Amino acid sequence: MGSKMICVALLLCLSLGVMAEDPYLFFEWHVSYGTIAPLGVPKQGILINGQFPGPLINCTSNNNIVVNVYNELDEPLILSWTGVQQRKNSWQDGTPGTMCPIMPGTNYTYKFQVKDQIGTYYYFPTTGMQRAAGGIGMLKVHSRELIPVPFDWPADEYSVLLGDWYNKGHKQLKAFLDSGRSIGRPDGVLINGKSGKVGDKVEQPLFTMEAGKTYRYRVCNVGLRNSINFRLQGHTLKLVEMEGSHTVQNVYDSLDIHVGQCMSVLVTANQAPKDYYLVASSRFARRPDVAVAVVRYTNSNTPASPMLPSPPPENSAGIAWSINQFRSFRWNLTASAARPNPQGSYHYGKINITRTIKIANTRSVVNGKLRFGINGVSHVDPATPLKLSEYFGLAEKEFKYDLVKDDPATAGSGLVVAPSVMNATFRNFVEIIFENHEKTIQTWHLDGYSFFAVAIEPGRWSPDKRKNYNLVDGVSRHNIQVYPNSWAAVMTTLDNAGMWNLRSEMWERTYLGQQMYFSVLSPARSLRDEYNIPEAQQLCGIVKGLPKPALYSGV
Ligand SMILES: *[C@@H]1O[C@H](CO)[C@@H](O)[C@H](O)[C@H]1NC(C)=O
Ligand SMILES: *[C@@H]1O[C@H](CO)[C@@H](O)[C@H](O)[C@H]1NC(C)=O
Ligand SMILES: *[C@@H]1O[C@H](CO)[C@@H](O)[C@H](O)[C@H]1NC(C)=O
Ligand SMILES: *[C@@H]1O[C@H](CO)[C@@H](O)[C@H](O)[C@H]1NC(C)=O
Ligand SMILES: *[C@@H]1O[C@H](CO)[C@@H](O)[C@H](O)[C@H]1NC(C)=O
Repeated sequence: MGSKMICVALLLCLSLGVMAEDPYLFFEWHVSYGTIAPLGVPKQGILINGQFPGPLINCTSNNNIVVNVYNELDEPLILSWTGVQQRKNSWQDGTPGTMCPIMPGTNYTYKFQVKDQIGTYYYFPTTGMQRAAGGIGMLKVHSRELIPVPFDWPADEYSVLLGDWYNKGHKQLKAFLDSGRSIGRPDGVLINGKSGKVGDKVEQPLFTMEAGKTYRYRVCNVGLRNSINFRLQGHTLKLVEMEGSHTVQNVYDSLDIHVGQCMSVLVTANQAPKDYYLVASSRFARRPDVAVAVVRYTNSNTPASPMLPSPPPENSAGIAWSINQFRSFRWNLTASAARPNPQGSYHYGKINITRTIKIANTRSVVNGKLRFGINGVSHVDPATPLKLSEYFGLAEKEFKYDLVKDDPATAGSGLVVAPSVMNATFRNFVEIIFENHEKTIQTWHLDGYSFFAVAIEPGRWSPDKRKNYNLVDGVSRHNIQVYPNSWAAVMTTLDNAGMWNLRSEMWERTYLGQQMYFSVLSPARSLRDEYNIPEAQQLCGIVKGLPKPALYSGV
């Protein structure tokens, strides 16, 4: 780990006030360009402290994370922490709607707490198409000591970042999109920044395992477009965690992981001591890309067999397979997560729905250019982050609330291109239905929250489909896939005040407008509900240089 991590500096803890009792982890990150060539074609990569993929953030529930980010690129940068709920703190969420970018040659220090969370997450740059170049790494949150974890402490933990890859640079990809064209299909798939092929000469295995021991593999799909299936030759994968929830521990031969999703599996080294291929292959693609990496038993001198385990079927059979797999994912109701009480003591199925929001993804051509949207609105970021113009009382100068209605049927045929902010009522229990009328799979992510993933079905949603919901042990997570001509339903309580991005996790779509924000304002303007704007928060656009409004008070 190349990042600097210094221990508790008492003064800083005190200056951060409320969070002083929980430990601090400090990181200093230098974000710069460097040439990388994962598929043999050199391109401008984004490195953190010289590393691609970026360094691991390894922390424990309730730790305070302080990351001083130096932008050594020639363009603005913001990092977001996908899945970190940022309780009361959308100020640090790192989307263009919440923060001013870190300008080239300057640095900015993120301060946030991984409050009441455990699990596997990742960070990435949200500016432009930078996500296509790197700046991505894993963030894992361990359970606090004394809080039981529903499996034995593994012999080791391995981080696996999967993702599709484009040989074109991020600036070129952005130029494509700005000119109205699609970026097309990716050129390959990567496992931790590399794309091994069967038979490659292997100097260093990706991971080693000792016979008889059990390892935790934390896996995220950090790509731009493709779902990925992963599997390990000769071994089964026992699912134990998914985006912050402990799951029922089913055993799988392979798992589909869609863009933006993370999960943990346990692998027991119970096979002959040799090398095995970890395989990642893209799903629902006309020409699936495959990458392999070697997992070696400590006493192995036998290369991996060239016979790769086969992927699940493609086309409609493959979709049915994948939907069935989704349905097998269950919350372990008796396991603890971040708190000592069982996850299942929160009975989400007994809460009355206060609002149903139906979201449909749209693809359209506006003034000759490709755009994507939600319910007829294609989001663009205004010059001032939405959270800041709202906080300074200048929202009406920058955006209109509620261009997106709760039902896509009310949207016109074209796409309106404008900043898209939906006003939401603090503490409402909402149901969000994602409808996909397109022929390609979608994945959706909500910042600031986790939601209960209660259903995925082919066809169209109607209120009577609610009888098919899993109202008992749906997994609480932050990302859900929606298959072609299908729908998905999630539920959550909007109890985290702030400005939160709901987006496609497929970055071409996000960049071209398939996203919006929820403005969840606490009427009390109280510290009980939301932290004050940080002293060091950068101001830009129309709020630059303005005096800050009165601080929140209370506890
Ligand atoms: C991560 O944190 C856990 C829990 O504190 C610790 O056991 C482990 O050694 C750490 N791993 C790394 C790679 O630092
Ligand atoms: C930039 O880094 C310096 C040196 O570490 C630090 O003192 C300063 O607070 C940082 N600036 C911001 C805005 O975080
Ligand atoms: C659920 O968690 C409990 C408590 O840790 C554990 O004993 C049990 O084996 C888990 N159940 C399943 C089905 O994974
Ligand atoms: C939920 O709605 C039902 C039917 O409208 C009502 O009887 C019940 O009291 C409500 N429950 C809560 C907790 O508000
Ligand atoms: C947002 O909704 C709340 C109540 O749900 C309301 O008080 C407020 O005026 C609304 N704000 C806007 C800008 O529509």
